Amino acid sequence: MSTVASYNDRVVRQFTVMTMVWGIIGMLVGVVIAAQLAFPLLNFDIPWLTYSRLRPLHTSAVIFAFGGCGLFATSYYVVQRTCHVTLFAPKLAAFTFWGWQAMVVAVAITYPLGITQAREYAEPEWPIDILITLVWVSYAVVFFGTIAKRKIKHIYVANWFFGAYILTIAVLHIINNLAIPVSLWKSYPVYSGAVDAMVQWWYGHNAVGFFLTAGFLGMMYYFVPKQAERPIYSYRLSVVHFWSLIAVYMWAGPHHLHYSAIPDWAQSVGMVFSLILLAPSWGGMINGIMTLSGAWHKLRTDPVLRFMIVSLSFYGMSTFEGPMMSIKTVNSLSHFTDWTIGHVHSGALGWVALITMASVYHLFPKLFGAKQLYSLRLVEWHFWIATIGIVLYIAAMWIAGVMQGLMWRAVNADGTLTYTFIESLNATYPFYYVRLLGGLMFLTGTLIMSWNLYQTWRQSTGIVPAPVLAPQAA
Ligand code: HEM
Ligand code: HEM
Repeated sequence: MSTVASYNDRVVRQFTVMTMVWGIIGMLVGVVIAAQLAFPLLNFDIPWLTYSRLRPLHTSAVIFAFGGCGLFATSYYVVQRTCHVTLFAPKLAAFTFWGWQAMVVAVAITYPLGITQAREYAEPEWPIDILITLVWVSYAVVFFGTIAKRKIKHIYVANWFFGAYILTIAVLHIINNLAIPVSLWKSYPVYSGAVDAMVQWWYGHNAVGFFLTAGFLGMMYYFVPKQAERPIYSYRLSVVHFWSLIAVYMWAGPHHLHYSAIPDWAQSVGMVFSLILLAPSWGGMINGIMTLSGAWHKLRTDPVLRFMIVSLSFYGMSTFEGPMMSIKTVNSLSHFTDWTIGHVHSGALGWVALITMASVYHLFPKLFGAKQLYSLRLVEWHFWIATIGIVLYIAAMWIAGVMQGLMWRAVNADGTLTYTFIESLNATYPFYYVRLLGGLMFLTGTLIMSWNLYQTWRQSTGIVPAPVLAPQAA
């Protein structure tokens, strides 16, 4: 005897659509601030449109709205398929969708008004923080509730990564945002001085480690084998990857505070753990890429798979670069320069955005009852435009960053500085133009993707085949 029931894909569809909507908006704001750096006139002397207010809007929109919706969508999709059950507490799942969108809208209104906690990646004021906490706890209940009622004894490794990201973000968010409100839109953190800096960068770094990395590794472990139609290269390596990554990440935060007022030993701990982090990161990358062994020819015909493999290559690249930048002497050159921005976007565009887009390409026809994507040729175009855009962006920032670092430290024989700051800024302009072009290309790719998905939706039968739970022996 077998049981048949269907998965809850409504919430997955909602999050998938919003991934694209916020992706376009967040990247558009990215292009706007890139243009403001190249042409400062574009600040228009209007407070709501100044770079300083739009920059956090960009980071929150791409990380939490675009990346976040992508993570909600894929984790809900994957946990149901790998546990062979429908989502636990469907009403709570619906609340996570509407609550998360409300949070993004609140952010989009308050930042331009100048309402901010001034903590990077944790800018929302306390009422929004409470909303985030409620949504996140509900997310944890839905996700772990689904795991708890699973029909498959084994918990597939992708769920371990999703689970670690959900738990850790809850802890990071709550601890970093402990504050005393003084009015509806103003609060002060309970920490001060060096402790405040430590807590903020423990949060900031692990937001990278668990939001921008662990969650997307969950995507990688499910969608790369699916798209390649092969099992993951080494399941044992994936388990080692998981435990080593989460054990090491937690300690690396102080590399954001080199040569600051925090204790020297703490900076050294941050540096050493960052260097160790190279090993699990590359273990994961190799595991993903080697899943294609014996099927490399598929890369020639499947542009979605190509997205995945290139994203893993960028993951490898940024997790090599990160440990190098955490070495104190290297950091003394890179810190404060555009090199950091290059590093961020090789991870953010190359890894995070590409793996999300590849997963959405994989998911979309299935979710909306279409046989296949409208046009693989457009995926091909997207792939090349986005990849060339990333390369232009990060190469420009690397060159600009190293140049700035060298100009700032150059001294004359009499000990005076060789260059004024403004000279280094002037020398940077050409690179800002190139970055703007790279960003525009990346955004164009995203628009092409959205058009392709829209056409796929239009061509779909409209009848979503009720996804069936794998039959279970009674
Ligand atoms: C069209 C694509 C994009 C463009 C043009 C763009 C542009 C920019 C610009 C101009 C900045 C400010 C740099 C500075 O302060 O000097 C920035 C910062 C940032 N962006 Fe993007 N961005 C894009 C996509 C993304 C995506 C998809 C993500 C994440 C998934 C992302 C994450 C970030 C982060 C985390 C920062 C802050 C970096 C730091 O503080 O060191 N960006 N971006
Ligand atoms: C082994 C892995 C990694 C290590 C050890 C590492 C290390 C570093 C270091 C040393 C910095 C510069 C800190 C400073 O001078 O202020 C940095 C900045 C940053 N990295 Fe990484 N990184 C890694 C991977 C990644 C990945 C995969 C991403 C994105 C997906 C990423 C996103 C960022 C962001 C957003 C910042 C800028 C933070 C800020 O100042 O606002 N990193 N990272």
